[in-house]
Amino acid sequence: MRFVDLIEKKKRGGEHTKEEMNFIISSLMSGMAEDYQVSAWLMAVYFKGMTLQETAYLTEEIITSGEVIDLSPICQHGEKVLDKHSTGGVGDKITLILIPLLAACGIPIAKLSGRGLGHTGGTIDKLESIPGFKTNLEIDELIQKVKDVGLAIGAQTKRLTPADGRLYALRDVTATVDSIPLIASSVVSKKIASGADYVILDVKYGSGAFLKTSEEASELAQWMVNIADMLGKKFHAVITSMEQPLGRAVGNAIEVIESIEFLKGNMTTDIKELTYEMASLALTSLGKAQNKEEAYQKIDEAVTSGKGLEYFRQLIRSQGGNPSVIDNYRFFAQPNYAYQIKSPQNGFIWNVDAYKTAYACKLLGAGREKKHDIIDYSAGIYLNKICGEPVTEGEVVATLYANDADKIEAAQEYLKEAFSYSYEQRNRGSLIYKII
Ligand code: URA
Repeated sequence: MRFVDLIEKKKRGGEHTKEEMNFIISSLMSGMAEDYQVSAWLMAVYFKGMTLQETAYLTEEIITSGEVIDLSPICQHGEKVLDKHSTGGVGDKITLILIPLLAACGIPIAKLSGRGLGHTGGTIDKLESIPGFKTNLEIDELIQKVKDVGLAIGAQTKRLTPADGRLYALRDVTATVDSIPLIASSVVSKKIASGADYVILDVKYGSGAFLKTSEEASELAQWMVNIADMLGKKFHAVITSMEQPLGRAVGNAIEVIESIEFLKGNMTTDIKELTYEMASLALTSLGKAQNKEEAYQKIDEAVTSGKGLEYFRQLIRSQGGNPSVIDNYRFFAQPNYAYQIKSPQNGFIWNVDAYKTAYACKLLGAGREKKHDIIDYSAGIYLNKICGEPVTEGEVVATLYANDADKIEAAQEYLKEAFSYSYEQRNRGSLIYKII
């Protein structure tokens, strides 16, 4: 087989066999194929697409390019291993809330998460804003912690799906990231290699997501669910709007604080809707609740009894963090500066644009442009007002936090632009567009 012939085949819209896909990925990994050849093949895939079968073959090849984690030791009674994945959002702290709540409902969880890049935040950065919290866990350590306390969250390791890392690096510089089969194989391979049998995907669309429309998000979600099914795994996808940030906090420590508040019972409607929907999918799919009603009762009980919060405390303690942050937020790093943005009129908040908010947050130092940028955990934004809420002229609509006055100066203009106002009240409606 020659790589050039496979580029030619895809260029003409042909369908690769399993053997050909194996050749493509093993040539990439061994260095037999040059980067320019793989890039040309990626561009051919971008324009000609792939069938579901080809995408499933590619996904399998990416999975077997590295280690595959066996999480069966955490399932003493033959339960399925659960994972949750978001395609990336602004203010998306659902993992921090969902994982302790599910652990409180009897579902053991060993989760690998990523760091933030570009305008979206990452769970690992948020957790590392808790002083002492260690995310660099060996797989044995991760499993042991789940056995000890019921849950653990570690940073993704490079030993998993190395072919995805190489393909993504080429896609990133050849304008071939936004291809549905390539995204689907990338996401599904990582989840399966992390040991999951059952995954809930949160596929986001809107200004703060990398897919802009609900149709694109639904198509990607359907591909991921179908490919997982072809590989013997059950995935659910929840398609959700990311037109506006989730909740009121955007940043790192500030999002952990909002998550702790949620677990203490102080919930914003949007976070509640999404968390309860996902938790209820998990509880019913894994046989922990008969139906949605029972699932909602169990989640309510995990919050009101304080059990969910207790699991979060255990998670922090077991991973070396300071659990006192739960009772006193001053144990988080404190920013030097705070600056308030005020409403220019009476009326209602019509919209808070997710992308502009995220961009402002990155300027404050809470996000990264490049992989190795250092982030400031104390920087962030608190939205005192969100969509649909009434405001009076001069009332505070948002507060920016940073350690550098220049950063506040740069960010505040963007954040002002994120807000739009109206004289009529807008009902934001449901965040959830569809479940697949
Ligand atoms: N996220 C991923 O993990 N992979 C992609 O290809 C795109 C987004």
